[in-house]
Amino acid sequence: MNICVIGTGFVGVVSAAVFSSFGNKVVGLDIDPQKIEKLKQGIVPFYEPGLKGLLLEQQQAGNLHFTTDYQEAVSSAEVIIVAVGTPSSKEGKVELKYVKAAAESMAPHLAKGAIVVVKSTVPPGTLSKLKELIQTKAPHSEFHMASVPEFLKEGTAVEDTLHPDRVVIGATDEGVFAKLEELHAPLNAPVVRMLPESAQMAKYAANAYLATRITFINQIADLCEQNDADIKDVIHAMGFDKRIGHHYWYPGFGYGGSCFPKDVKELAAYSRSVGLSDNLLNHLDRLNEERIPKLMAQYEAAVGGWASKKVAVLGLSFKPHTDDMREAPSIKVIPLLLEKGATVVGYDPKALTTVPYFIPENPEATYTDDIATALKDADVIMALIEWPEIIQYDFATARRAGSAQWVIDARNQLDRLQLMKLGFQYIGVGR
Ligand SMILES: NC(=O)c1ccc[n+]([C@@H]2O[C@H](COP(=O)([O-])OP(=O)(O)OC[C@H]3O[C@@H](n4cnc5c(N)ncnc54)[C@H](O)[C@@H]3O)[C@@H](O)[C@H]2O)c1
Repeated sequence: MNICVIGTGFVGVVSAAVFSSFGNKVVGLDIDPQKIEKLKQGIVPFYEPGLKGLLLEQQQAGNLHFTTDYQEAVSSAEVIIVAVGTPSSKEGKVELKYVKAAAESMAPHLAKGAIVVVKSTVPPGTLSKLKELIQTKAPHSEFHMASVPEFLKEGTAVEDTLHPDRVVIGATDEGVFAKLEELHAPLNAPVVRMLPESAQMAKYAANAYLATRITFINQIADLCEQNDADIKDVIHAMGFDKRIGHHYWYPGFGYGGSCFPKDVKELAAYSRSVGLSDNLLNHLDRLNEERIPKLMAQYEAAVGGWASKKVAVLGLSFKPHTDDMREAPSIKVIPLLLEKGATVVGYDPKALTTVPYFIPENPEATYTDDIATALKDADVIMALIEWPEIIQYDFATARRAGSAQWVIDARNQLDRLQLMKLGFQYIGVGR
């Protein structure tokens, strides 16, 4: 099948590489010429385990190409997959300008019968808006539209795309369902057919549910801190209930990343727009926004103020195995520490090149990919993200005997007893 993938970000490059590995001819298109130049040379412009090898393999096999030229990419494509960004606007509503621009740019080049698949996360009603835009630009075009939301997770994106839990196809036309089922057949995954609006709601609802789980367990963690309960034990005990399970419990600084905050905000904004302001989603967004300032105030009191403290901030990406810092805790925590007079050394094994895009330069903040350098003379160690390099580190080497030193374990992933034995003052979440 000839496929065009519009938008070569995390989702677009992974989709392009995976679909080409099934023998399809895929062209990846982006409006960012620097990104395309790198991709042409086999360089992935971000860190994603397993992607570089797959990309190079498919480029060398002649199955995968990259371009900035809409005509070249779209005119011979049977399926056009839209994977451009859908960030939040200031008011929290989803920003559709990139998907709309992509629709307008592709319109004059669509081949007869082409299927435009929206993989970007968009709210119900978007397909008809895009269809109208395309028809305005190219009144005689004959094309179909579908919604196939993406469920991959950064850090395991290749694996998730090769082995998805399900493929959700939102369409209204039997021929479109059949063609898209054929495209996804090599994945051997359950395929579920539905209306585009259901597919779009399913994507938002899945992210909102996971965000709810995180917010819920943070609230329980807050209650544990009022007594001798330990949230780790509470989660362990709860998890045996098959309706609950042991997986996906992350008490800490709240949910972040490129998707949960913006998708919850959009669903909250949508609920307000239809007169359902008391919807849970509005509360979820507020609780998550308040989470970091609230915990940081608690920690400030616990360490006796941040002024003149040297703080090692470990983990700058929003989760392990990615260099993506969109809505990472570090981008709120570090400016707050600096504002309060701390000096900061940030550590991350992969995200150093991303830092300048997210944290304003400050002479009191330096960054390193060497954990020992970050820990040198640290008064406070804040472990924000459970990179293996952080949770497996031997913190004995960072202990300064005779002086007070704190470890803030924002993910409850470090060995609390060992750290206390070493003489650190340990602060976890909900324990
Ligand atoms: N990142 C994830 O983990 C993830 C997971 C599931 C779903 N999603 C959804 O997938 C979509 C893409 O997310 P992402 O993280 O890959 O985004 P991204 O920001 O990493 O990449 C988007 C790309 O689109 C390009 N672009 C913007 N406008 C364009 C245009 N008019 N024509 C061509 N290219 C254009 C940008 O230059 C950029 O390279 C979003 O809707 C997101 O919500 C993301």
